[in-house]
This record gives sequence, structure tokens and C-alpha cells, in this order.
Amino acid sequence: MMLQELEILEKEAREAIAAAGGLPELAQLKVRFLGKKGALTVLLRGMGKLPPEERPQVGERANSLRAALERMFQEREKALKEAAAAVRWERERIDVTLPGVQFNLGRKHPLTVILDEIKAIFTGLGFQIATGPEIESDYYNFEALNFLSDHPARDMQDSFYVSPQFLLRTHTSPVQIRAMELRAPRLPVRVIAPGKVFRRDDDATHSPMFHQVEGLAVDRGISFADLKGTLLLFAREMFGPEQRIRLRPSFFPFTEPSAEVDIACIMCGGAGCRVCGQSGWLEILGAGMVHPRVLEAGGYDPAEVTGFAFGMGVERIAMLKFGVDDLRLFFTNDLRFLKQFR
Ligand code: DAH
Repeated sequence: MMLQELEILEKEAREAIAAAGGLPELAQLKVRFLGKKGALTVLLRGMGKLPPEERPQVGERANSLRAALERMFQEREKALKEAAAAVRWERERIDVTLPGVQFNLGRKHPLTVILDEIKAIFTGLGFQIATGPEIESDYYNFEALNFLSDHPARDMQDSFYVSPQFLLRTHTSPVQIRAMELRAPRLPVRVIAPGKVFRRDDDATHSPMFHQVEGLAVDRGISFADLKGTLLLFAREMFGPEQRIRLRPSFFPFTEPSAEVDIACIMCGGAGCRVCGQSGWLEILGAGMVHPRVLEAGGYDPAEVTGFAFGMGVERIAMLKFGVDDLRLFFTNDLRFLKQFR
């Protein structure tokens, strides 16, 4: 009777051990069959009821079954551990012959490419980089630059005001004043001020935010010829050694005299084409001799020093150089567009 039960137990245990899919399951089985309250122990507790002559045989059988099951547990545990290790090895081993993972390399934004080029040209001429805040006071953005109080640029229609006194700067020219204030009375002043500017404008050639680079030189004896020579050199560095420029009379409140500066059309070389509207010329910046009132506002005596200034639009130069006809492409961050620039 009892020998038969041991046999059934053995069969059950063998099958369960063989079917165990993992170490936790195997540990549970071990408790179930061999534990203190396990099946074998419970069964042997009944031995007391057996007739004495049967006890040695049943005892022997029970002991050898316990030993056999313990061995089976051990072997199954070893096999499961090896299988897990093999899986881990497959998953983790490094195949040094596989091709590497290709990372996408970042690159400079086209406007940064142009900005860096502009900065390199002027720092090479001895200009320092100057900065100013993007939220600017009416004083620096207009007043100190000799704008009359009814100048149209001061209108809410054209500028982003954040309060009656403060607005998003509409140009980088206020940095002229800040740069002079920082340096006066020392000479010479030679700075460029690259940065963001803001205007209420939005179409294919105007964005509410765009970039300018301001230039300012102040010293004794600076003439209009210095301005022209500097701008010609800039145009040749930027657009090629044969590049020609042309200056047309213009007006800005903060310069006198003032000029608008054209380069010979980089598409047709001056012959006239669609890009230059058949004129042969492309406007690239505004410039002039610093107005005496502006020098004074900056802390310099216009009886002693003169200066020139210029301001250029970075997007405009980038559009010309890269042949881009919609300025909004610079700000929509389409990778197919951005990936074309180095
Ligand atoms: N601030 C002018 C603008 O935004 C550009 C400019 C013109 C700057 C002439 C200058 C300058 O420094 O001399 O339209």
C-alpha cells in the first residue's frame, strides 16, 4: 500500500521537475515534495501505522527516493542555470565585426554659418563683439539714436512694446550707444553687435524676429572713405574677391550723411536679372557717419572724434549667398532644408 503511494509520488515528482520552466518554480516544487510539510514527509508520518516487519523496506525505499529526488532537483537546477546563462550570453555578447551604429551628426544652422563668417571678417579687422538686451528701453532704441518723438518706427504698429517705456529692440543700433557708454572716453571704439531684432512684419521676406549685425567705429579722424573701404573689404570677403559695391544717398536719424549699400548682383554680375529686378544691384546694408548727437549720447565729443556705423540683415545675406527665396525656411526647422548647409 505505502510502497505504491511512494511510487505515485516519485512519478509525480519526476514529471513536475522535468516540466519546471524556471528556478523559482523549481524551488517551489522542492518545498512541495521534500519540505518539512512536503508530500514525502507527510507520507512517512504514516509509517507508524505499518506493521513492524514492513517498516524497514518502506523506510529504505523512502530514503532512496529522497536521495534520488534531491539529485534530480540538483541536476534540473544546474540545467536551468546553464540555459539562462546561454540566453544571457547570446543577448549580451559583443560582435566586434558588426558595423557600428550610425549617429546623425548635427551641423550649424545656415544663419549661424553666415553669422560666424561675418564675425570672423570683422574680428579679423580688429572689431570686438558687443551685445545688448533684446528687451530695450525707448531711450536706447530710439531717443539716443536721434529719432524724433513722432518717428513712424516708434508707432505701436511697427514695434512690439512690452510697456510704455520698453519694447523688443527693432534694430541692433541701440548697442552702438551701450558700447560707447562702456568705453568712453577711450579710443578707438571698434565693435560689431550681432543679435536678434523684432518687428511687426511677416511675409516671404520679413519675419517678426530676424538678425542684424551692427558695426561701429569711433576715433579721431575717421572718414567716409574708411567706411567705404571697410564695407568693400567685407563684401569681397563675403561674396568673392572681385565683388563691387555701390553707395546710394539715404537717410537714417542716427547717421549723417547716410547711405544704402548695394553689391553687384551675385546672380548676373550686374547685367540685370530677375533676382536684382534688372537693376544689376542688390541692397545689403545701411550705413553712414555717426550723427554728432549719437556720439554725444555715447559719451564722446563730436568736436574731437568722428565715426562710422553700419547695419546689415543676416537673413538677407544668407538668402543671397545660399539662393534661398523664402526667409521663413530659416525658422521652420525642416531638416530636409537644414541638412543642405555646412
Ligand atoms: N538700424 C537700421 C535698420 O534697422 C540699419 C542701419 C542703418 C544701421 C544705417 C546703421 C546705419 O548702423 O548706419 O534699418
